[in-house]
Amino acid sequence: MTKEAKCELGMIGLGVMGRNLLLNMADHGYSVAGYDKDSAKVQNLQKETEARSIFAADNLKDLVRHLRRPRVLMLLVPAGSPVDSVIHDLESLLNPGDLIIDGGNSYFRDTERRSSELKKKDLSFMGVGISGGEHGARNGPSIMPGGPKEAYERVKPIFEAIAAKVGQKPCVAYLGPGSAGHYVKMVHNGIEYGVMQLIAESFHLMKQSMGLSDDRLHSIYEQWNRTELSSYLVEITAAIFSQKDDRTGKNLVDVILDEARQKGTGLWTSQEAMTLGVPLPTVDLAVMMRQLSDLKDSRVTASRINDNVGRAFQGDQETFIEQIRNALYAAMLITYSQGMSLLRVASDTYKYNLKLEDIARIWQGGCIIRAAMLENIRIAYEAKPDLRSLLLDTGIVEDIFDRQQHLRIVVQVAVELAIPIPGLSVSLSYMDGYRSPWLPANLIQAQRDFFGAHSYERVDAAGVFHTEWREE
Ligand code: 6PG
Repeated sequence: MTKEAKCELGMIGLGVMGRNLLLNMADHGYSVAGYDKDSAKVQNLQKETEARSIFAADNLKDLVRHLRRPRVLMLLVPAGSPVDSVIHDLESLLNPGDLIIDGGNSYFRDTERRSSELKKKDLSFMGVGISGGEHGARNGPSIMPGGPKEAYERVKPIFEAIAAKVGQKPCVAYLGPGSAGHYVKMVHNGIEYGVMQLIAESFHLMKQSMGLSDDRLHSIYEQWNRTELSSYLVEITAAIFSQKDDRTGKNLVDVILDEARQKGTGLWTSQEAMTLGVPLPTVDLAVMMRQLSDLKDSRVTASRINDNVGRAFQGDQETFIEQIRNALYAAMLITYSQGMSLLRVASDTYKYNLKLEDIARIWQGGCIIRAAMLENIRIAYEAKPDLRSLLLDTGIVEDIFDRQQHLRIVVQVAVELAIPIPGLSVSLSYMDGYRSPWLPANLIQAQRDFFGAHSYERVDAAGVFHTEWREE
């Protein structure tokens, strides 16, 4: 590309995500520019500029100079202080009306702060969630944009071109003002944690109680992925069980340490749900189990004191495997339901005006939690956009209830065999709790009033009451 040509978008951060998104844009006919403070990454991009309309910039000033005005800049840098520092460096180089897009996994409160700070300087700011990992970025991610509507209109053609497509429709939609996009991406990741935990529990059960081989597990998940359980995470799970380790020739999964790391988006989702008072137990448990997995040394020591866990299953294996498949489906649907309920409350709290139908649609392609069941979820919100919970939708409830007996059996068996399945079990209890017209919270109210004079409400009269309880 000649130095004079003006690019439509400038990418800052040429790591896997930034570079792949940029190449994706160029493949769709957009002239783009890229910059990274790591010159090796810029040189790497330089190699791609031959046949495409790409400019590789040596410094930020050069990048900005090559952009058409009003400028559009996209940041794909690590969340946190790197985003603030790039914005700081950019400010003196930009003009009023220019647009900065943060495409990373930023914390939504940071996005809110940056939006208002930049607004004061007449700069537009969007927080955009992008899901799909390196493959998605290159070939079609799911894009979750938030920020000023007029800013979205400027980048809509690019986003629609590069996004994954389901049917003819691109997996992108304007979600709402301010931090709406990053909020939705955070909840996406929370659901991702929950579903990963549930699949891991299905694996734990099949491996430990029946001793299934990796080959067998590969074909089970592959077969499950051809059913209504079809989803990206089940698909990659099947693939994982057939991957060999280059170093040892063993199955790779068996030489990977059983300690799961986390960058924090699942924890943010749980903390946020607690703050808003929305139950999100499957995600909470998923975060907790990653923390428990991290206590490897203690787990090994404790197992030496009492290792009475993970006993063998004695019944019919084929029947049990089918029950696990149904249990996983029901628990996954309950997890999506929890996440959507959080979005419903957040939409009111933060005035995002989210359209949950759109979210269920754009999550059907490109992203990590894409799954066939999202179409049923979309249909539920199409019929009732303000649905407080998917557990109030007849179609979804039937979908779960057809399988709930199997979820119950699987939880029972796992408890008897002493195999930890907190995600499956808490999903079941959440559903049972949600449809309980009565819960024992009256006793909790009585206890609070007993020891702390915190008062209680009555079923037969309005107002608050206190009793001088008698200690025996
Ligand atoms: C995605 C992923 C992506 C990232 C996760 C990993 O949607 O493409 O969610 O954003 O891989 O944030 O999260 P943890 O490191 O916390 O598991």
